[in-house]
Amino acid sequence: MTVGKIALVTGAGKRVGKAIARGLADDGYALGLHYNSSAGGAQDLYEDILASGGKAALLRKDLSRPETAGELVREASAALGGPVSVLVNSASAFDTDSLADLTWDTWQFLLNVNAAAPVFLMKAFADQYPLPEGGAIVNMLDTQMNSASPERFSYFCGKFALDGATRLAAFELGPKGIRVNAVAPGLVLPSDQSQENFDSRQKLTPLGPGLGPQDIVAAVKYLVAAKQVTGHTLVVDAGQRLMGFGNSPIG
Ligand SMILES: NC(=O)c1ccc[n+]([C@@H]2O[C@H](COP(=O)([O-])OP(=O)(O)OC[C@H]3O[C@@H](n4cnc5c(N)ncnc54)[C@H](OP(=O)(O)O)[C@@H]3O)[C@@H](O)[C@H]2O)c1
Repeated sequence: MTVGKIALVTGAGKRVGKAIARGLADDGYALGLHYNSSAGGAQDLYEDILASGGKAALLRKDLSRPETAGELVREASAALGGPVSVLVNSASAFDTDSLADLTWDTWQFLLNVNAAAPVFLMKAFADQYPLPEGGAIVNMLDTQMNSASPERFSYFCGKFALDGATRLAAFELGPKGIRVNAVAPGLVLPSDQSQENFDSRQKLTPLGPGLGPQDIVAAVKYLVAAKQVTGHTLVVDAGQRLMGFGNSPIG
């Protein structure tokens, strides 16, 4: 049990981010629950955490304006009474475009949410005074970066930038006692496909069906606890990356 420590999870109103926030709350963290449009989901989790004796704060922000993203760290710290010691950048915008059809607006939006906002959140985390003891940042990448499809050009460019930022930040922030790692999920939850289509793809992975948010929560918890691990990406994908999924019809 981690009593008195504060975690901030972006995109905590639904899906994977919500599961991560719940998992950290179960471990005793006070939770900064960031959301943008999922107010209902964030509120439900907030009430659950309070009902089980935990502590949480609801923090709304549109991360497509990354210059304001760092405010979340200060707001979480002020609301929960101490420095944020764990930051999980789970919020992400997903869309399909290619070099042929992308526009300045879609490019900027996807790069802002998927790369610039997490970077400014990392900066705000590292600028805290006093710094938390044993600070840990976990960024969410994507196993399909290993065989990325150009049909999601801007999305993957954002994830590539975040991958580089993860390693550079790990190097820079190590001496401050802050570790920076990433999780690259595989087929955890359906995105722009039907449940049936998702299930049929999951079945084709080397480990078959079963990968779910609980596996991402476990990976995040490992990286938060692994005191000698930094600049690392933990791929949690049931072996999907071994198949070159991104460029195959089942990617
Ligand atoms: N699900 C998978 O199978 C899978 C696979 C590979 C990688 N991943 C990665 O794992 C992470 C979590 O996955 P997920 O499927 O749970 O993600 P998701 O459903 O696509 O989105 C997660 C969150 O991003 C937030 N978000 C989107 N645009 C935003 C904006 N402009 N401002 C603030 N927040 C914004 C949303 O908040 P609101 O709903 O509150 O607006 C949402 O809760 C993501 O980084 C994703 O890329 C997931």
